Amino acid sequence: MYSTAVLGCAWGDEAKAKIVDVLAGESDIVVRFQGGNNAGHTIKVGNEKFVFHLIPSGILYPDKICILGSGVVIDPFKLIEEIDALKSKNIIFKNRFFIDARAHIVLPLHKELDGKYEQNSKQTRIGTTKRGIGPCYSDAYARTGIRFGDLFKTDYLKNRVSNIFSYHNYPVKEVDLVVKKLTKAGKQLEQYLKQIPYFLDECTDKHVLFEGAQGALLDINFGTYPFVTSSHTIAGGIPIGTGYAKKIDRVVGVFKSYYTRVGEGPFPTELNNETGNKIRTRGNEFGSTTGRPRRCGWFDAVAAKYTSMINGIDEIALTLLDVLSGFETVNICNKYILKNNEETDEFPYSNFDLEIVKPKYIELPGWEEDISQIKNFDDLPKNAKQYVHKIEEILKVKVSIVSVGAKRDQTIIR
Ligand code: IMO
Ligand code: MG
Repeated sequence: MYSTAVLGCAWGDEAKAKIVDVLAGESDIVVRFQGGNNAGHTIKVGNEKFVFHLIPSGILYPDKICILGSGVVIDPFKLIEEIDALKSKNIIFKNRFFIDARAHIVLPLHKELDGKYEQNSKQTRIGTTKRGIGPCYSDAYARTGIRFGDLFKTDYLKNRVSNIFSYHNYPVKEVDLVVKKLTKAGKQLEQYLKQIPYFLDECTDKHVLFEGAQGALLDINFGTYPFVTSSHTIAGGIPIGTGYAKKIDRVVGVFKSYYTRVGEGPFPTELNNETGNKIRTRGNEFGSTTGRPRRCGWFDAVAAKYTSMINGIDEIALTLLDVLSGFETVNICNKYILKNNEETDEFPYSNFDLEIVKPKYIELPGWEEDISQIKNFDDLPKNAKQYVHKIEEILKVKVSIVSVGAKRDQTIIR
């Protein structure tokens, strides 16, 4: 068994799916271990564009098995929509798509609660995707959740739905209707039910690829709390979200060549100016899940060193380098300046501190050339190579993949 993990190392939207798509060719099984349909993973194959929210992007390869592990939260109605949309593009699911029985179900009431929390002016607004993710994980930890495997045991399901309705003071009269809808969705999804820990344990001669969603700075424990998502997005999330307990052989950390963030929360290198707008336009930085314009800024190596550490990354995939063509200079933040003017290269644990740090930049010369058709690292403009080398030098990790466009073949492997 050989295993690779592809993990977002910033605030999500690092173009992980593109890297998964490139690396999935060498693997047999693609597994998601956390998050839900808050993710938005876009892949371009030829002229066709696919957007995934729940299903691992490996499904585009007809011979790969795709899995949703126990750590993923599943909106069954949205999942059915996503499966149907892909089936209509001739993608086959039978005998190659599986869901762990332990994965929690996102209920309509979770989406309602997500919206309510976000609208309540007395509570901290997170800027969530309003997909019910936080409330669903909360219920999992409160032991009031409903799991995928429960959908197939009608009496037990009814018992569980009554329990969660009572917990949230929801009208009991609606229990039967919700049970009916869940049972109906369950009938369509039952063919995908599997005990994933046993399945992975038996795949001794296979290559497994773990596909991360969101990013390390959105991790529930190590991210910029409370402006985070509610799951374990880092490498440590893999065993708890799948039951696969062996060492991961290759951890690929995905970084954008600049930084972006959607939703609220601190962002030290954010550019609220023309340069930020130029990055947004050139990088088409609008959310694929909610359509929101993404906040844009320079590469933050203080944050990057931190996320590289907490993920134990072996190599870097640097994406969207093509977007940085046409800037006179490009900046990398390698220190934060604190309130007392002291400098630090430690990522603060508190948002309160992160809000007020000022970035200290290394300024590098930019490059004019369009690099989107370049296939070999050596053919990149000198200044683009220097930019990549600087990131390697600061992070002390090799950049083994450079992405210069959305398509599979717009990838430089070193
Ligand atoms: P991918 O997988 C970027 C952000 C939301 C919000 C916070 C909490 O495409 O990288 P949630 O709905 O998860 O409770 O929202 O997390 N967020 C993402 N940002 N990319 C994502 O996924 C995200 N998923 C959630 O904007 O700030
Ligand atoms: Mg996304």
